[in-house]
Amino acid sequence: MFQALVLEKDPEFRAAVREVDDSFLPDGDVTVAIEYSTLNYKDGLAITNKSPVVRSWPMVAGIDGSGTVLESRASAWKPGDAVVLNGFGVGETHKGCLAAKARLKGEWLVRRPAAFTARQAMAIGTAGYTAMLCVLALERHGLKPGAGEVLVTGATGGVGSVAVALLARLGHQVVAATGKAAEADYLRKLGAANVIDRAELATPGKPLQKERWAGVVDALGSHTLANACAQTRYGGAVAACGLAQGMDLPSSVAPFILRGISLLGIDSVMAPMASREQAWARLARDLDPQLLETMTTEIPLSGAIEAAQKLMAGQVRGRIVVRTI
Ligand SMILES: NC(=O)c1ccc[n+]([C@@H]2O[C@H](COP(=O)([O-])OP(=O)(O)OC[C@H]3O[C@@H](n4cnc5c(N)ncnc54)[C@H](OP(=O)(O)O)[C@@H]3O)[C@@H](O)[C@H]2O)c1
Repeated sequence: MFQALVLEKDPEFRAAVREVDDSFLPDGDVTVAIEYSTLNYKDGLAITNKSPVVRSWPMVAGIDGSGTVLESRASAWKPGDAVVLNGFGVGETHKGCLAAKARLKGEWLVRRPAAFTARQAMAIGTAGYTAMLCVLALERHGLKPGAGEVLVTGATGGVGSVAVALLARLGHQVVAATGKAAEADYLRKLGAANVIDRAELATPGKPLQKERWAGVVDALGSHTLANACAQTRYGGAVAACGLAQGMDLPSSVAPFILRGISLLGIDSVMAPMASREQAWARLARDLDPQLLETMTTEIPLSGAIEAAQKLMAGQVRGRIVVRTI
C-alpha cells in the first residue's frame, strides 16, 4: 500500500490523500518510487477542480515527479536510475506523481542531472523547466546580456521566480512585475534589478507603446501579454508560456508588423526529449542552488490539497515541493 492524492468525479468532485495498492497503478513500462513531487499552477487547477485539467477518472494528481526506478521493461532504464518526469499528460490523462509510486512510460523520463537531488529537481519542476524553455527560446531569437531590460511577469510565481534567477545569473537586466509589493526584496535577492507593479501592465493599453523590453518572459497572458508586446523594442521577442491572468490575447498585429517583434510560444507538456534534455542540462549549469532553496517550501503529501487552494488564491511565493514518502 502507498499514499496517493486521488481525484474522483462520480459525479461530485472529490480530492483526498488515501492509501492505494499496485492494482491502482496505470499501464506503463517503468515503475518509479517517487520521492518528491511538486505543485504547479496546473496541479492547483486539477486539485481544486477549477478547470478541466483532468480528463480520465479516477486520477492521481501530480504532473511532475522525481525518484528512483523500481522496475523497468524499457531498455533505457534499470532499477536504481534517478529520473525526472514532467508533463506528457501525467496527472491529466495518466495517473500522476503526487504519490509514493508511479507507473510511467520510459520514453517520458529524463535522467536526473547529477547536480540535483530529487527534491531540487522538484523545486524546479515543470515551472522551472518551462522558465528555462523560455530563456532558451529568447536566446535562440538572439537575446544577449547587455541588450537591455528583460521583463518577467508573474514574477513571484514558480515560472517567474526561476526565470528571474536564471536571467539575472546569465547577466540580463531583469525587471520583475508582481502584484506582491511586499516581495520586492525577495525578487531583488533572486537578481531582479527593478521591481514594478503588475497593475501597470494589467489593463487595456495602446497597440504600440514606448519601447522598453529587449525580451519578455510572460506567464500571465491577456492584457499583460498584449501590453508586453506593445512595449517590446524593435526586433525583440516575447516568450509566452502562461495564462494566470487569462487565456485571451487582446492585441493587434502592430507590434509584429511595425516593430518586427516575435511572439515565441512555449509548451512544456509535449516538448520533444531533446528540448527537455537541453533545458535540464542548462538548469544544472545556470540555476544557483542556493537561490533555488530560497524560493522553495516543502510540505508533506497530506498538506497538498490546502496548498493547492492557496496557490489558486495567489497566496504562494516561489515553488512548493511535496514529500511523497
Ligand atoms: N506553457 C507551459 O508549458 C506551461 C508550463 C508551466 C506553467 N505554465 C503556465 O504559466 C503560468 C504560471 O505558472 P506557475 O506555476 O508559475 O504559477 P504560480 O506559481 O501560481 O504563479 C503565477 C503567478 O502569476 C501571478 N498571478 C496569479 N494570478 C494572477 C492574476 N489573476 N492576474 C495577474 N497575475 C496573476 C502571481 O504573481 P505575482 O503575485 O508576482 O504577480 C502568481 O504568483 C500558469 O498560467 C501556468 O499554467 C505553462
